[in-house]
Amino acid sequence: MKILVTGGAGFIGSAVVRHIIRDTQDAVINLDKLTYAGNLESLAEVSTSDRYAFEQVDICNRAELDRVFALHQPDAVMHLAAESHVDRSITGPADFIETNIVGTYILLEAGRAYWNGLDQSRKAAFRFHHISTDEVYGDLPHPDDADPDSRIPALVATAIKSLT
Ligand SMILES: NC(=O)c1ccc[n+]([C@@H]2O[C@H](COP(=O)([O-])OP(=O)(O)OC[C@H]3O[C@@H](n4cnc5c(N)ncnc54)[C@H](O)[C@@H]3O)[C@@H](O)[C@H]2O)c1
Repeated sequence: MKILVTGGAGFIGSAVVRHIIRDTQDAVINLDKLTYAGNLESLAEVSTSDRYAFEQVDICNRAELDRVFALHQPDAVMHLAAESHVDRSITGPADFIETNIVGTYILLEAGRAYWNGLDQSRKAAFRFHHISTDEVYGDLPHPDDADPDSRIPALVATAIKSLT
């Protein structure tokens, strides 16, 4: 399996990339703009693997995303690229809107265009996984209160309830 990891040079993303290369047989395309938060040194131990590729790309750049999807033909996307340090959004919200909202939208559109061109079995198997935070998905319930069968995050469940 080939996994396109966005933000793979970040704190969580680099751990995901190291895990995939070390502990699985899957391949990774790490797509990262390398903002102040990105650091390729954290990937030194896996960067020579023939299952690892790096693309310095901004998720807001649709043409570059299309090129990466077409070239690497991933089976899944794990989307971690983000402006993640919330305190910075107070003094500079523009980068947050650009990457977290517009960039995620552009990545989804590029992913959908790519997905539309896949054959039926690859379409059915394809996954887009947006890794984010409680500000997007809501708080996890306390373990004592959690419904063990529920995989629906709290905010999504509340939104569904309000529609029904
Ligand atoms: N760090 C945590 O403890 C934590 C906890 C819960 C959720 N999360 C979520 O996980 C995700 C990743 O968090 P993190 O801590 O690894 O963040 P990070 O800030 O360490 O890394 C973000 C990465 O995204 C890249 N990036 C930023 N803008 C980009 C763009 N426009 N195009 C391409 N790449 C871009 C950066 O270069 C960097 O490598 C975020 O959505 C965050 O909210 C993190």
